[in-house]
Amino acid sequence: MWNNMKKGKILLVLGAIMVLIGFMSFVGSKDDVQTREQLGEKLFFDPILSGDNTISCASCHKPAFAFADTAVFSKGIKGQLTARNSPGLTNLSGRPHLFWDGRASSLEEQALGPITSAAEMGLPIEDAVKKLNDNKFYADAFQKIFKSAPTKDNLLKAIASFERTLETSNSPYDRYVNGDDHAISESAARGRLLFIGKAACNNCHSGEDFTADRFKSIGLYNGKDLNDPGRSAITKSKTEEGEFKIPGLRNVALTAPYMHNGKFKTLKEVVEYYNNPSLVVKDGINRDLALDKPLNLTNAEIDDIVEFLKSLTDDRFKQKLASN
Ligand code: HEC
Ligand code: HEC
Repeated sequence: MWNNMKKGKILLVLGAIMVLIGFMSFVGSKDDVQTREQLGEKLFFDPILSGDNTISCASCHKPAFAFADTAVFSKGIKGQLTARNSPGLTNLSGRPHLFWDGRASSLEEQALGPITSAAEMGLPIEDAVKKLNDNKFYADAFQKIFKSAPTKDNLLKAIASFERTLETSNSPYDRYVNGDDHAISESAARGRLLFIGKAACNNCHSGEDFTADRFKSIGLYNGKDLNDPGRSAITKSKTEEGEFKIPGLRNVALTAPYMHNGKFKTLKEVVEYYNNPSLVVKDGINRDLALDKPLNLTNAEIDDIVEFLKSLTDDRFKQKLASN
């Protein structure tokens, strides 16, 4: 009798614990992912998508730096270095070409690259899908959001949906063009005029996001120490040697170092290069005619252009940096 009572009590306590666990996981799942974007965000930060569970997209694309890396080349699994500089990921939703050489044409297609690349995340896509299916959280989340088990397609869709949320249009520059004369410094305002005038940066960096979405050579390929031919390796066209995607410039102040090879550490070095490319790279192949002659910018004008570029940083990153 006493024994039975004791058993009953134990069962009661066990039952209460079970209910509590059930309740907690319910609360947990309520706070957890509800949309494709949230699921993609979770995947973006989760090393489950790498062969040895050590690398996530965010290992190389760091949120505080507009999703770029601060290193010249990033580390993939087993300490392997990437062949190019990791770009920032903001304002990509309208881009027709992705990667420095434009070899992917959608964010979905792009996302397959790093997961399966032996040097980055090193996980065959079938294995990625299997790992997600074996993981109760993801199996449930895909079921809830896509009405299907995890598949290659909906995995890539989720990540791309998250990346499409990284649009930024709330910078001092935006407030300035919308009528607030004091939103940027006088130096940045002069820089803006130089950008579209004397320095003619907008020949290539045009439009809302400061890219014409084309491929150009600014002269950072010489077939020797600078040996990445860029676009021509994809198109097999010699006339495109040294061409790279014109990158958008929003949030560019956060994404140093710069260029496909991370050659320049600061924006000042970048603008100094444009001012007279031959002083830095004498034998750049196929350099665009727009960069044929020195720009003859003064030191003060170079600083003004740098100030202008800094005004393109979205407020959300200011808050992030301030809280770091
Ligand atoms: C080991 C470092 C590393 C990891 C991990 C990584 N990336 Fe990248 N990412 C890069 C590098 C380097 C490039 C540029 C490569 C090139 O252009 O050839 C790049 C390019 C991109 C681009 C193209 C951006 C543009 O402007 O064209 C996108 C989008 C992107 N990565 C998203 C992702 C996503 C999503 C993941 C996770 C599934 C991921 N990356 C994982 C290093 C990494
Ligand atoms: C002929 C076209 C062209 C012109 C003109 C041009 N750019 Fe570029 N810009 C590019 C290309 C292409 C790249 C990438 C080159 C590479 O990686 O080899 C680039 C890269 C950059 C980057 C590095 C971005 C990053 O994410 O690494 C900055 C900053 C930049 N340009 C600013 C400027 C400024 C400022 C001017 C004017 C002084 C200018 N550009 C003029 C085509 C151009």
